[in-house]
Amino acid sequence: MTSRMKINDESSRPIGVFDSGIGGLTVVKELNRLLPNEKIIYFGDTARVPYGNKSKETVIHYSLQVAYFLMKKKIKMLVIACNTASSVSLPTLKRHFHIPILGVIEPGAKSAIAASRTDNVGVIGTLGTVKSNSYKKALKKIKRSVKVYQHACPLFVHLAEDGWNKNKIAQMISDEYLKSFKGKNIDSLILGCTHYPILKQVIQNSAGKKVKLIDSGRETAKEVNRILQKKCLLNIHKKTEKNHSIFYVSDFPHKFKDVSQRFLSKELKHVHKVKL
Ligand code: DGL
Repeated sequence: MTSRMKINDESSRPIGVFDSGIGGLTVVKELNRLLPNEKIIYFGDTARVPYGNKSKETVIHYSLQVAYFLMKKKIKMLVIACNTASSVSLPTLKRHFHIPILGVIEPGAKSAIAASRTDNVGVIGTLGTVKSNSYKKALKKIKRSVKVYQHACPLFVHLAEDGWNKNKIAQMISDEYLKSFKGKNIDSLILGCTHYPILKQVIQNSAGKKVKLIDSGRETAKEVNRILQKKCLLNIHKKTEKNHSIFYVSDFPHKFKDVSQRFLSKELKHVHKVKL
């Protein structure tokens, strides 16, 4: 009976995390930091990345395919690490599946409101995320009076993946993008894309030190913790093997190891390529 109960214990099941590619590893890093006992099954849709410049319909279609794949792995919760997919696919995924599903938008918005004194909040993200107005809607839902300024920064994704995250060119591009916030009196800026935490330093230089950068991935990890706790789904069994998470991709990107080192602060040795 005891062993049977253990097998059926949902809390020992993995958390599914999905992203358009490898950017979501920044969210995995935060989850590992906060919830070291949790097993993660990650899917990066590297064959079809980027999602940021694709239509809403396409991103929803891809998100559903990935979610079905992860559901078959008996996950206890699904985290949409990708800001673009969170922006457009969350309601559809919630309608299809009956486990807790969390995107990165709401946690990021909540934290930005808590951090702001001026009620002027900036948002940077992909074209898809900015066009969807997902952050703007989430921010206004929490506080109607907040003023939201958004700007798409598509080149940041390439800079982060190529390791050009601290050089002069990255700084120049960041200065150029963040010009649009000048004179708006923003005091919190949402990093609304998986890749942007890699560029934190140059973004902070451009925004000025009075602006608080909000890392949506970090806030999402805190929310995952709260949800699992509330639903009694936190894994109480101590992690036995080292590195027991599993990583799947739909294609191998070039320089995968370098990128995983930069995004996750460790090199991923075992990554499985699968066809959806
Ligand atoms: N993961 C995406 C996001 O957070 C960035 C890369 C892409 O465009 O697919 O929006």
